[in-house]
Amino acid sequence: MVDTALAMKNGRSSPLLAGRTLALLFEKPSLRTRVSFDVAMRQLGGHALYLSPAEVGLGQREPVADVARVLSRYVDAVAARTFKHETVEELARWADVPVINALSDGEHPCQALADLLTIYEEKGRWQGLILSFVGDGNNVARSLMFASALVGMNFRLASPEGYGVSGAVVDKAERFAAGSGAAIVCGQSPEEAVRGADVVYTDVWTSMGQEKEVAERGRAFDGYQVNAELLALASPDAIVMHDLPAHRGEEIADEVIEGPQSVVFDQAENRLHAQKAVLALILGGEGD
Ligand code: CP
Ligand code: NVA
Repeated sequence: MVDTALAMKNGRSSPLLAGRTLALLFEKPSLRTRVSFDVAMRQLGGHALYLSPAEVGLGQREPVADVARVLSRYVDAVAARTFKHETVEELARWADVPVINALSDGEHPCQALADLLTIYEEKGRWQGLILSFVGDGNNVARSLMFASALVGMNFRLASPEGYGVSGAVVDKAERFAAGSGAAIVCGQSPEEAVRGADVVYTDVWTSMGQEKEVAERGRAFDGYQVNAELLALASPDAIVMHDLPAHRGEEIADEVIEGPQSVVFDQAENRLHAQKAVLALILGGEGD
């Protein structure tokens, strides 16, 4: 997928998906995912159709299984952004067309794929690198852990007690890592995690849907900000990543996100190229 994404980024874009339609079924807000999928379809000759929470009422106006079966009669693929991870799985179970996870409470695989592309462009490899994720063991962290494990990149997570990832997630990552040699390390110390890292990554402390916990989370994550002092412990040529949107002054200091080691806008751009690869591979026969 990353090879295809690189080829797409370097200008090889044909109207592979002429006449094809992608439904964007979103229960939560989005800038990058929504726009990059829409533009990706246009650049490949097809088009995207955005369906907001109010229009569809997934599981409320009608059952998820019915939405999946009806959409399958109209469109060629569905990219779904859901609260519960089970909802995207249920859509996939009932749909006759491919369903792409465009972020659920559990995982954010399209982000992780774009992040692998960005790291490869910056470092020329994944094998043996150290990616340190400082903050919440959330959807973005889980997908990055799985992606790192698959490609042989060592993954370190530093989260406050109670905000890490479950044992089942680590077990799954360990199974992926068995084939690649990646080390997966989960702890609580941001300093230990970041020491010698090649990639320092963070995400918001309060994800979409957790807004009621914002005060409690703010207290729990005190000391987990990626700032200049913490970044100084990483490798001198470390890059700083954030999936965005970012809360400057909370999980990341303004001087770091705007600093010379930050690649956050390249990362955002790569969502487009990575998703073009996903669409071309699942709908256009690219790579067959
Ligand atoms: N990073 C990301 O998925 O951004 P959006 O929520 O804006 O799509
Ligand atoms: N963890 C964040 C990612 C947003 C792209 C959230 O789920 O809100």
